Amino acid sequence: MTSAATTHRSVTVRVPAKVNLELKVGPRRPDGFHELSTVYMAVGLHDEVTVVQADRWSVLVSGPYADQVPRDETNLALRAARAVGRQVGIDDPLSVLIHKEIPVAGGMAGGSADAAGALLACDHLWGLGLPREDLLETAADLGSDVPFVLTGGIAVGSGRGERLAPVLARGTYHWVLAVSPDGLSTPAVYAECDRLRGDADVPTPEPTTGMMTALRSGDVKALGAALSNDLGDAALSLQPELGEVLVAGLEFGAVGGLVSGSGPTVAFLTESPEAALDLCVSLTASGVAGEVRRAKGPVHGAHVVAGPSTRG
Ligand code: C5P
Repeated sequence: MTSAATTHRSVTVRVPAKVNLELKVGPRRPDGFHELSTVYMAVGLHDEVTVVQADRWSVLVSGPYADQVPRDETNLALRAARAVGRQVGIDDPLSVLIHKEIPVAGGMAGGSADAAGALLACDHLWGLGLPREDLLETAADLGSDVPFVLTGGIAVGSGRGERLAPVLARGTYHWVLAVSPDGLSTPAVYAECDRLRGDADVPTPEPTTGMMTALRSGDVKALGAALSNDLGDAALSLQPELGEVLVAGLEFGAVGGLVSGSGPTVAFLTESPEAALDLCVSLTASGVAGEVRRAKGPVHGAHVVAGPSTRG
């Protein structure tokens, strides 16, 4: 192993959360993953990941969800940083600082965002300039959603969600996110989906025409009507109170709503920034949803906000 040739003291990367506008879950594969067809949208809730040269490897976490994030070797951002180091033969230890605004175990790719942030931050800190395809490949090894939060925007995901294709899409959308106080484990939600399906035949998942047409037209009502998630029933089975949140949001005027990814965050689509604010107020006042956040989408994927690349 060598020491880093190009040294910068620290790099900070900002990374968005995601909502799955459509999530079709196909058959379980021999490797335990499920074949997916999903449409991702990156939304404006962001984590910030900073990597700093240090004497030993460590993770520090700040922000509203800090106490729920592991600081040991299981931390996905730490694993991402170590993976890049291994690949390029750099063994200089880093401190990984995470400012966490994305709910933990919420179905919004929070852990994946931190991994994507750490990948890009190490690439810049060590002056590697890794080709995009290499970053995407390492991202896919770390988790199915990591390539998407690195990329951002709107994209179709296939395979286990890691293979991305661009989507023709128009418009900016205003989301209200009802965050559950208790997270859901992604493997547990997939297992519950399998249990609910029993022996039923599961078709190969494909993007729907309704979703693609809605995105092409930029019609918020059409998009609201096209939202769908095959993991929704499984998430509701594990957290039945999410059903009340969904009903309330739609009654209070959302043009559509669904469980985000494996949940338990419930995402509501609204017609305007004002409608989003109204919905936040109504959901909070009704007491049905604990924490309520607003976010715009689509937004950019992981990008450097402080460090070498912002100087040049
Ligand atoms: O890829 P990621 O680490 O996010 O996956 C977490 C878990 O979610 C997997 O171990 C698997 O149980 C489940 N999963 C799945 N099919 C997918 C993606 C995730 O079964 N396409």
